Amino acid sequence: MEIRTLKDIENLEGKKVLLRVDFNVPMDKTTGEIEDDTRITESLPTINFLLEKGAKIIIMSHLGRPEGEVKEELRLTKIGEYLSKLLNKSVKKMDEVLSDIVKKEIERMQNGEIILLENMRFRKEEEECEENFTKELASLGEIFVNDAFGTAHRKHASTAGLADFLPAYAGVLMEKEITHLSKVLEEIPAKPITMIFGGSKIDTKIGIIQHFLDKADYFLIGGGLANTFLFAKGVNVGDSLYEKDKVDVAKQIIEKLNSKENSLNLPVDAIVAKEISDEAQVQEIAIESLPEEMKILDIGRKTAENFSEIIKKSGTVIWNGPLGVYEYKPFMNGTKSIAEAIADSECVSIIGGGDTADCIKKFGIPEGKFTHISTGGGACIEFLSGEKLPGIEILRKQKFL
Ligand code: 3PG
Repeated sequence: MEIRTLKDIENLEGKKVLLRVDFNVPMDKTTGEIEDDTRITESLPTINFLLEKGAKIIIMSHLGRPEGEVKEELRLTKIGEYLSKLLNKSVKKMDEVLSDIVKKEIERMQNGEIILLENMRFRKEEEECEENFTKELASLGEIFVNDAFGTAHRKHASTAGLADFLPAYAGVLMEKEITHLSKVLEEIPAKPITMIFGGSKIDTKIGIIQHFLDKADYFLIGGGLANTFLFAKGVNVGDSLYEKDKVDVAKQIIEKLNSKENSLNLPVDAIVAKEISDEAQVQEIAIESLPEEMKILDIGRKTAENFSEIIKKSGTVIWNGPLGVYEYKPFMNGTKSIAEAIADSECVSIIGGGDTADCIKKFGIPEGKFTHISTGGGACIEFLSGEKLPGIEILRKQKFL
């Protein structure tokens, strides 16, 4: 996919750049401390590039889902302070998204200065991509750089709308994400191709599963997702979480994959318990013999072994979603062994979704062991489902030819 990038901008010296990033990072509910700064650190190459070129940088981001209202706990103040520390440079955080005060501050900017606007979603016009608001926002800058891959699936004023009024370019992170993820879609990925899915919701994965139904060789399914598939196959899932209204969808996928030998791989054993806690009394059982009052909370050792064998012989692995309730000690081993199997393999590995990236950090596996860890959750899944993402479509070269 050919997109316009920072290298295509001729002169940045003194130019006001509206830079959209995705600083929607997990924060501690009581202290407000940032729990995972990946999305912030990943934006540094773009910010540093713009600084070196002497641009005036106006940063825009959202945090959470305030739905057009000011929510004190969702202000970007802490994030501004954090960014300032990382850059060792002042970042002027505004308390509003768009106002006369904001405009005045921008007028006063010197080359190489940074302003961070308030949470874009404090204004309802942001998510509506409302035209007058977008136009007024565009008037703050001369160039639009979109580095918010994580929000590229949203058609909002600051993620897509601005391109109607300003020349738009991809930042370094956006370019990196598109380059790695496009390879899986546009080139012929090394075979066999293995898709690993966990987490709980089928809805969020259905598009990507369907897109790869004919292309992928193996589907390894764990987590809450597997329970719905197991139920659809007539296996008793006891007190486990599963999606009743998605059983038919699971049945259709099973039917489709049945024609391909060994393609669908569900858990053959599981770690089960009555409660989800660090102190839970666990049992490891064969999948057909789950006691009624128990929940399936992780894949068992035999399943982990089966999955690891498939990973070992794979050319490409795409993984989205933990295979158990990895946040709790008794249920983290399945996800951990799969993460390790991918890290030890020679395959091209694409990891998507915040939770999956979080597992890897938690297990202390070096990120360099994977080909690409996406900063996108929904965006990564939609991209790999072959959908067109509004925040990326505006960056295509043809638009400006
Ligand atoms: C994400 O965390 O996936 C992105 O920041 C998008 O957030 P949203 O789902 O609230 O649009």
